[in-house]
Amino acid sequence: MKGTMKKILCMAMVAALAISVAACGNGATMKKIEKSGKIVLGTSADYAPYEYHTMINGKDTIVGIDISIAEEISKDLGVQLEIVDMGFDGLLAALNTDKVDIVIAGMNPDEERRKAVDFSKIYYEAKQGVMVRTEDKDKIKSIADLSGKKVGAQLGTVQEKIAKEQIKDADLISLGKIPDLVMELKNKKIDALVVELPVANGYVKNNNDLTLSEITVKEDTGGSAIAVKKGNSDFLKLIDQSLDRLMKDGSIDKFVQEANEMNVTSEGK
Ligand code: ARG
Repeated sequence: MKGTMKKILCMAMVAALAISVAACGNGATMKKIEKSGKIVLGTSADYAPYEYHTMINGKDTIVGIDISIAEEISKDLGVQLEIVDMGFDGLLAALNTDKVDIVIAGMNPDEERRKAVDFSKIYYEAKQGVMVRTEDKDKIKSIADLSGKKVGAQLGTVQEKIAKEQIKDADLISLGKIPDLVMELKNKKIDALVVELPVANGYVKNNNDLTLSEITVKEDTGGSAIAVKKGNSDFLKLIDQSLDRLMKDGSIDKFVQEANEMNVTSEGK
């Protein structure tokens, strides 16, 4: 009897240990990265200044704040970086099925996503706004002015949620890629676009016919964070260390400035 009790107790302790090790998360991602010698980054490169395509020496290249950060994390870990470009709404599924090791895509760590993946600290703060055609700036000044209008947002984003919850009387048009939504706005297929301010600013700078409206919307996560598969706190800790360094030494500010300066090609003026 005594022996059996001991055995059960012992088994329970082993189980508890296994659970706690899993919870501390010496996860599989770090091992995968060490073995392959590379980090596979999932991103959606339709999002200047965060990540976007540009021609460098005649070659289509993905650049931006998030790419510079990913390069630094890879350097800190002593591994290569491989970029997988896909639709924003597929990123977390790709992470959870091990198609990518990390997601950096100007992603806000909201409650819903936190249930599916783990997030680093916030590395860049940004607010959301509503972009309109310059000619409509005086007509569309409040949420009420959007009543019955077509409002665009990127599929699976917090902007889509904002449009649904805060601009209820509008007709929501969700598309997978930001440049397509911007074309719809320019071509009068939609009347407004809910968009992250740094992204809107790039388009406004490059397109005289686009303007940021006075409308304010709320978003409470306040910025972008890096996502990893749950149970990888060892990897997450290293990511946060790299972010700490990049935030402290001014690198992130430099990446933002560089990405904004390079972003002059979109939809030609
Ligand atoms: N910040 C928004 C979100 O987290 C949109 C991000 C879109 N990112 C992109 N690379 N297209 O939902």
